[in-house]
Amino acid sequence: MPATVIVGLQWGDEGKGKTTDFLAEQVAMVVRYQGGDNAGHTVVLGDEVFKLRLVPSGVLYPHITSLIGNGVVVNPATLIGELDMLAERGIDTARVRVSRSAHVIMPYHIALDRAMENRLAGEKVGTTGRGIGPTYADRALRIGLRMEDLLDADGFRHKLERILPDKNDILVRRHGLEPFDAERLLDEAMAWGERLRPHLADTTWLVQDALRRGDHVLLEGAQGTLLDLDHGSYPFVTSSNPIAGGACTGGGIGPLQVDEVIGVMKAYSTRVGSGPYPTELTDEVGRGIAERGREYGTVTGRPRRVGWFDAVPLRYAVAVNSVSSIMLNKLDILSGIDEIRLCVAYEIDGRRVEAWPSSADLLARAVPIYERFPGWREEIHGIRSIGDLPEQARRYVAALEEHAGVPIILVSVGPERTQTIERAFRPMRWRPALAGPPGAGPAASAAGPAEAGAAGE
Ligand code: IMP
Repeated sequence: MPATVIVGLQWGDEGKGKTTDFLAEQVAMVVRYQGGDNAGHTVVLGDEVFKLRLVPSGVLYPHITSLIGNGVVVNPATLIGELDMLAERGIDTARVRVSRSAHVIMPYHIALDRAMENRLAGEKVGTTGRGIGPTYADRALRIGLRMEDLLDADGFRHKLERILPDKNDILVRRHGLEPFDAERLLDEAMAWGERLRPHLADTTWLVQDALRRGDHVLLEGAQGTLLDLDHGSYPFVTSSNPIAGGACTGGGIGPLQVDEVIGVMKAYSTRVGSGPYPTELTDEVGRGIAERGREYGTVTGRPRRVGWFDAVPLRYAVAVNSVSSIMLNKLDILSGIDEIRLCVAYEIDGRRVEAWPSSADLLARAVPIYERFPGWREEIHGIRSIGDLPEQARRYVAALEEHAGVPIILVSVGPERTQTIERAFRPMRWRPALAGPPGAGPAASAAGPAEAGAAGE
C-alpha cells in the first residue's frame, strides 16, 4: 500500500515539482488531488524547463500514469493547451487521465472571480483570477458542471440553461459586464469534450487498482498548508484543501492507505496574494532573496512576497498533515546573507504565542520573535553530503529540523534534480499488495475503454 502524499508546508511554491521529479523514478502513478490552474509546477530536466499548471509533473516520465483527481477544478482550455505543448515537445501524454467527476471551470467562473476581486478594492484576496473560487463554490451549491458533462450535449445544455441566467444576471447587473451566450458556451464545451474524451476516466478506481497491485502512487498537492481553506488564515486562502487530508477526498484514497507524507518547504518563506505575513521582508535582504530565488509567480508573473522562515506555522503544518519526513528546498539561496533569522514564536497583544493562530486578525497583530543564525558566504550548489555544508548552514538546518520534529531527509541546493543532498534518504517503503486480484471489483466494469487501457498498462 505504498501511497505517498507530497504536501506544501508553507504558502505554496515550496518546490513540490522538484520533489515529485526527484521521486519519479520510483513511482508508477502521480495524482493531483486539488486546486486547478492557479498552481504552477516548474521542472528542470537537463536543459529543458517545463512549466505545468494542471498535468502532474510525472507526465515527463514514460513509465508514469498521471491522474488529475476528482478534487481538482479543470479549465479544459488550459488542459488542452498543456497536452498540446507537451506533445509538441515530444512528451507522450497518452497516460494522462482526468477524473470524470472533476469540476469544470467555465468562462463565467473566471469572469466572476475577477469581477468579485475588483469589487473588494482594498480587501482583495489576491486570487490568481482563474475562476477557482467560483467553481468550488458552485460545486458546493450543486450547480457545478463536471468533466463527464462535456460528453453529453443534451445534458450539458439542460444544466447550463438552469445555471446561466443567474450567472449572467450577476455579471450584467452587479458588475456591468457582458453576458455569456449559452449556445457558444455549449459549442466550446462540446469541442473540449471531444478533444479530452480519451483522457476522461474514473480515476478513483485507477488509484485503487494501482494500490492493489502494489504500485507506488504519489499524491501531489498544489498550493500549501497555509493556503488551506480550513487551516490557513481565512479568508486569505484558496478554496480547496491542499493538506494531506485533501489527498483522500480529492484523490480517492482512504486515510489508512497513506503510507508516508513528505512535507516540502523552502529555507525561507514566500507568499503570493494578500493576507497577514509576520516575517515579511521589505528590505534589501528580502529583495536579494527574491532575485536569487527567482520568486515570481509561475502563473501570474507577480513578484512573490518574501520573508524569513516561520517555525510557528511549520509546527502546525507538521501536525495537521501528519508529516513523516521533509524535503528542504532552496537552501543555496541563503548563501551570502550575513545573519539569518528564524521566527520561533510571536508576540501578540503583549503575550508570547507559540501555537499558530488560524485567525487572520490575530496573525495581523503578530510580531515575530526571532532566533538569529550567522550566515555563510560559500556557494553550496556542488555539495552532496550534509557533512560538507558550511557549519553555519548545518546549524540552521538542524534548527529547522528541531522545530519540525521530523527528519529532513532531502536538502535541495539547486534547481536540478542532481543538486540534492540525500540525507538519511531511504527509498519509499514497499509493502506487498493488499489481498485480492488486480482489477477485481467494480473497477473492471466501471472503467470505460480509455481508463481500462491505462489501468492495465
Ligand atoms: P485562488 O486560488 O486563485 O483563488 O487564490 C487564492 C489565494 O491563493 C491567493 O492569495 C493566491 O495568490 C494564492 N495562490 C493560489 N495558487 C497559488 C500557488 O500555486 N502558489 C502560491 N499562491 C497561490
